[in-house]
Amino acid sequence: MEIRLQGLVKKFDDFTAVDHLNITFEDGELTGLLGPSGCGKSTTLYMISGLENVTDGHIYFGDRDVTGLSPNERNIGLVFQNYALYPHMTVADNIAFPLTNMKNPQTGKKYSKNELREKVSEVAQLVQVEELLKRKPGQLSGGQQQRVAIARALIKQPDVLLLDEPLSNLDARLRLEMRREIRRIQRETRVTTIFVTHDQEEAMSITDRIVLLNGGKLQQADTAQKMYMDPCNYFVASFLGNPPISFIRVLCRNGRAVSEDGVELPYPTDYEGEAILGIRPEAWCEGTDQGVKVRVDSVESRGQDQMVRFHIGKAQITALADAVREFKIGEEVSFLLRTDRCYLFDPAARNRIRTGSTAV
Ligand SMILES: Nc1ncnc2c1ncn2[C@@H]1O[C@H](COP(=O)(O)OP(=O)(O)OP(=O)(O)O)[C@@H](O)[C@H]1O
Ligand SMILES: [Mg+2]
Repeated sequence: MEIRLQGLVKKFDDFTAVDHLNITFEDGELTGLLGPSGCGKSTTLYMISGLENVTDGHIYFGDRDVTGLSPNERNIGLVFQNYALYPHMTVADNIAFPLTNMKNPQTGKKYSKNELREKVSEVAQLVQVEELLKRKPGQLSGGQQQRVAIARALIKQPDVLLLDEPLSNLDARLRLEMRREIRRIQRETRVTTIFVTHDQEEAMSITDRIVLLNGGKLQQADTAQKMYMDPCNYFVASFLGNPPISFIRVLCRNGRAVSEDGVELPYPTDYEGEAILGIRPEAWCEGTDQGVKVRVDSVESRGQDQMVRFHIGKAQITALADAVREFKIGEEVSFLLRTDRCYLFDPAARNRIRTGSTAV
């Protein structure tokens, strides 16, 4: 089921939490709704679910305008950060709960005990909790509870699955495992899924597409790779990437980019004027005398590679270098730049300047 937001706005008194969003969540895809804390992710998700009403705009599920419908009329599955399972019920009863007051569309009657058992067993198998059906939620680990919450959201065979930071209560290892599980479950069911997270790596690792918000506004909607390689503005470039991109204020003139402190950078460009140059850490490669000469401030090994930090004038820079090369603090290094990992931004509007490098 495709989900389309058209001019969606949410105001709390004078404060605009969600600001004219026009976004399409593709049918059958897993979309990551990403952005910093307070950017409007949950508010957007709650409007899609019907738990929060909209101030302006429309929400479509396929061709159907669902803007005024209650959550029950939208056929959605919801999973929140705090699993909110019923503590006094068994896992099986928790999973079956959404069906207990519903009629079986095939028979027109309430679900029988046998039908419920069959349905529960089917989704329990999908999320791999068949062994736990007789337990109570208090006897489960965090990851197991979250699997049960997902099973409960899926049992109605929703058109849309909405997940709001479902993994943030889990420890790092479980998070990784559950991330992959959500990806697997989504692939198997093909249910259109929106996964809210503020963790860029989580969004990049499991989603088909990322929708990045800031201050209630859409920044960019793209695949993770496209967003990383071709950010549309300063915010997008700064939000994605670990270690993050470095920025230097530059003046571009006569084909050259010179930093605000007067250091010439190995970045040929046909742009004329002031700009902010964004440089991904992997753009730096040790070069010949033509490179920019810097002095190493610190080195941090990451096993497969290392982060080398230095300054160019006032700007603090992080470069990623091969693990084999040994850098010494205080050592002078000459660096060249891969210009396809560098981006120019307008210093005022912070939009991307597209006519940048001459060598891509
Ligand atoms: N009921 C409310 N009344 C007033 N302001 C609200 C209300 N709910 C949310 N907000 C504000 O709207 C903005 C967006 O909130 P929202 O919960 O959507 O952010 P979020 O992106 O989900 O953040 P987080 O990552 O911290 O969960 C925030 O500034 C928040 O303070
Ligand atoms: Mg939130």
